[in-house]
Amino acid sequence: MTLTFVLNGHPCTAEAPAHWTVLDLLRDGLSLTGTKDGCGEGVCGTCTVLADGRPIRACLVLAAHVRGRALVTVEGLETDGRLDPLQTAFAERGAAQCGFCTPGMLLAAKALLTEDPAPTAQEVREALSGNLCRCTGYAKIVEAVLAAAPGRS
Ligand code: FES
Ligand code: FES
Repeated sequence: MTLTFVLNGHPCTAEAPAHWTVLDLLRDGLSLTGTKDGCGEGVCGTCTVLADGRPIRACLVLAAHVRGRALVTVEGLETDGRLDPLQTAFAERGAAQCGFCTPGMLLAAKALLTEDPAPTAQEVREALSGNLCRCTGYAKIVEAVLAAAPGRS
């Protein structure tokens, strides 16, 4: 099938077999490997991307879902070569260690801060509760998201 959608701000047309997920489309069809394949069954959140601004688990959603939508992956977070404030905060505060969970964390956090520019620590924890991290203990991730929240500075 042919899919036409917006990918990281640019019009995109891609071919995909009907059984492909969004994760297959991104990684295998478009070679965008920033989106990680952790569990492949909707548990870990590493495959989180935004579809029309909302976080989705790319491993659970069929590629056909992207038709006509605006998709944002971790590759689309920077603007004109400048990192998103979330990326900078993650780097500066040690919120990324092995980094495997980081793309999904960043996009879940991006959706939160777009909706609520001044979340509490508890709200950040809740927004990221579906994203698992084996390395950081979460404290630095929450700290980084709070530091990047435009309404808190
Ligand atoms: S790879 Fe999609 S939730 Fe784990
Ligand atoms: S930084 Fe390693 S899984 Fe989160």
